[in-house]
Amino acid sequence: MDQRCAVILAAGEGRRMRTEGAKAMCQVLFRPMLGWVLDNCTGAGINQICVVVGKSAQEVYGILPQGVTTAVQDRRLGTGHAVRCAREFLENRRDADILVTLGDSPFLFPAVIQKAYDLHKAQDNAVTVVSSRVEDPTGYGRILRQGGQVAAIVEDRDGDDATRAIKEINAGTYWFKGGLLLAALDRLIPANDQGELYLTDTLEILRKMGYRVGACDAGDSRIALGANTRRELHTLNEIAREMVFDRLYDGGVDIPVTDGVMISAEADIAPGVRILPGTLIRGRCQIGADCVVGPNSVLEDAVLGEGCVVRSSYITRSVLGRGVTVGPFSQIRPDCQIADGVKIGDFVEVKNSRVGEKTAIAHLTYVGDTDCGAGVNFGCGVVTVNYNGVTKNRTTIGDGAFIGCNTNLVAPVTVGQGAYTAAGSTVTVDLPPDSLCIARSRETIKPGAALKYRRQKGKE
Ligand code: UD1
Ligand code: CA
Repeated sequence: MDQRCAVILAAGEGRRMRTEGAKAMCQVLFRPMLGWVLDNCTGAGINQICVVVGKSAQEVYGILPQGVTTAVQDRRLGTGHAVRCAREFLENRRDADILVTLGDSPFLFPAVIQKAYDLHKAQDNAVTVVSSRVEDPTGYGRILRQGGQVAAIVEDRDGDDATRAIKEINAGTYWFKGGLLLAALDRLIPANDQGELYLTDTLEILRKMGYRVGACDAGDSRIALGANTRRELHTLNEIAREMVFDRLYDGGVDIPVTDGVMISAEADIAPGVRILPGTLIRGRCQIGADCVVGPNSVLEDAVLGEGCVVRSSYITRSVLGRGVTVGPFSQIRPDCQIADGVKIGDFVEVKNSRVGEKTAIAHLTYVGDTDCGAGVNFGCGVVTVNYNGVTKNRTTIGDGAFIGCNTNLVAPVTVGQGAYTAAGSTVTVDLPPDSLCIARSRETIKPGAALKYRRQKGKE
């Protein structure tokens, strides 16, 4: 059995955040903080995880990977009480090493978890807390030392001036010996300003029981930061943003100006990609070499082959081949597969469609629920009429077809390979390959009629 397990505390309601839901669901770079924390645990090789959830449990369940167990804390009675709520999980793991970490502290990365674990084992501690020296320790628990050894943790609100002057803070992440954690939890009492059971008191308790208590310095002071308020959440977003930029710069990505640029930590971006201002890259995007994304574009769970150009456009949950150009001012909605060399110009919307190689959809066009071949040319203002008010229907367009300007293709309908539609046609029947469809009334021309009209009205 794996001897390393984790308890993540996420029952807090975020009153200071003024959110209705769980605080741990507040987002850093488009991702709930709890999502970061779960990744940090699994990234450190810890697979037995128990998340302590509170009132907003349903919201939290939605992001938990399979195999993660939960414990419920009905009332918010403190971090120590929250860990007690995971007692059943802990009882079965008395011999294990237990990581306790917080749902509102996203940057306790696997390397720090591992470093603290190594120290924990090397010193044979009952508990090892991750600590950090920060410029402004306001709001954090302080590490109190006696003769250099960790003696206790005192909360900001419970400390005197001397304690508050200490800059070594508690990051809120600890390694415990399972059995001793349970023993210490039994001895907790609410002897503090908030009348809560503080997990932090377990350090002093274990020390007084005669066990070794240690601290592992996280190094980078940003690592320890958590967010209780919107302002702190903003700080975490800024830090995360910089961390992602640093990684991308090292990977050869060009972000000449970072104004308005937000990129999720999960994004996979190849060297030589250029990202311009006002661009959001959310979720699990993959961007191939030499793409240019932006300005003012939003990609979400999008895959772009090499050399694509996206200007002032939105792409959601879709896959683009190589050398595809999009925009300005276009939208590719979910479930599109756009093949190599396709040109999508301005004011085009594509949804749930496949578009074949080198097809051009240059202006003012809606392509929805369509299977389109290669080398097709869409004139300006084409509409695939996919919805009849009751059902959605598909349009099929063969290779090399030419769809004239302002054509309506009323689905379900098929345009055969190499077929043409005349400008302004409304097509309701299938077109054979290589046919020409003209579906519009012939012009009636009345010579001199306009002049006659003006004269009648006394305009000439
Ligand atoms: C806590 C620590 C503090 C540390 C800081 C690091 C305590 C008493 N204090 O303070 O020493 O410096 O984190 O960020 O532990 N939670 C529950 N149930 C509860 C209370 C809290 O699940 O009853 C969860 C919250 O959802 C949150 C986490 O535990 O994710 C921490 O709680 P919070 O109230 O934010 O503690 P801090 O005041 O930040
Ligand atoms: Ca906190």
